[in-house]
Amino acid sequence: MKTAVMGFGTVGSGVAEILLKNSRSVADRAGEPVELKYILDVRDFPASPFSSLLTKDFSVIEQDPEISVVCETIGGVGVAYDFTVRLLKAGKSVVTSNKELVATKGPELMALAVENKVSYRYEASVGGGIPIIRSLYDSLAGNEITSVRGILNGTTNYILTKMINDGLSFETALSQAQKLGYAERDPSADVGGADACRKISILSSIAFGKYVDPASVNTVGITDITLDDVRECEARGAVIKLLGSARLTEDGRLAVRVAPAVVDENDPLGNVEGVYNAITVTGNALGDVMFYGQGAGKLPTASAVVADIIECVKKTKNEKLRLWSTGDADFVLPYLSQTARLLLRFEANGDFQNLIEGYAEEGSVIVKNGVVSFVTVEKTFGDHAAEIKRLSSFGKLISRIDYEAK
Ligand code: HSE
Repeated sequence: MKTAVMGFGTVGSGVAEILLKNSRSVADRAGEPVELKYILDVRDFPASPFSSLLTKDFSVIEQDPEISVVCETIGGVGVAYDFTVRLLKAGKSVVTSNKELVATKGPELMALAVENKVSYRYEASVGGGIPIIRSLYDSLAGNEITSVRGILNGTTNYILTKMINDGLSFETALSQAQKLGYAERDPSADVGGADACRKISILSSIAFGKYVDPASVNTVGITDITLDDVRECEARGAVIKLLGSARLTEDGRLAVRVAPAVVDENDPLGNVEGVYNAITVTGNALGDVMFYGQGAGKLPTASAVVADIIECVKKTKNEKLRLWSTGDADFVLPYLSQTARLLLRFEANGDFQNLIEGYAEEGSVIVKNGVVSFVTVEKTFGDHAAEIKRLSSFGKLISRIDYEAK
């Protein structure tokens, strides 16, 4: 079988490297050798050992009958979308690490794959090298899933870890993550939460069987988290993590969001450091299961792309079983109706404590240097907004973070 890689960046070059380095084991697992025939990129790479495979002409790949599986590691929804549509229509399977494309155009591309009797696979789109997508579709198939929750972005977890462990500033930690090849081309998708949003949308669509549009997921990133917030959590035996979460409510709707959250230091998610990602899935038969591994980076992510190439070659799966039905308009519970506890910090004087009675959890109030911090009781985000507005007449809100510690 012959394949092509489109986009010779971090992940695409990793795919080429793994196909060469692991050619024997890949051939054993696929049942036949997998040969890389073309690499599509607009740039030149004269020093690359793969330079003889480079082409700038997409139609060469589209029209070559020898090519049956193509890796799309271009990213974004522009040419990546156009090329994917054309390849599926040309009867070629496509595998990808492009979570933006899967999250926004997944239903259309999966249906197109079924129509053309080929596959569209995206194991690498969530959790880098962690085998979460196939596990949700296959290994956990005997469960009804009630919740998916996790650290889904390596860059932000790296930044928060460096702030927590080494007291590094946000900017220094971000530039380190960029140098290590973890960040998206535009890192605002990492730090602003859009990348984690796309990933929880993909996981929710699989776990709950209905498409969850990323536009319906309330998303907060980590740009407002300060070293003061980090120290405040440390005093409480807790840490801040950027979490994507989706939980089925009793009335069968989905509470889904992305936000920084305070979790106990000894919570399994509290111990996930650096570029590592972790995802906890709760099933009604299995209980909790946790997936943990490198959520970004060249070879971890490329290994998941290569696994999808092998899967396509084996052609053992029926694509129809993997379709997402159209989501009901009211499937996603509006953000303001979702509930949570918050860690709030106000600049205020001592009298402020009387105003938070009943709203603050007992024993959670800390007053220090003109700052009153406390953990609230559980309320809807709508009720929190009203309480925060009321309290803002008496003190200045300096931070609010979802609180998931005990
Ligand atoms: N920028 C992403 C991250 C890459 O940091 O997790 C992997 O999806």
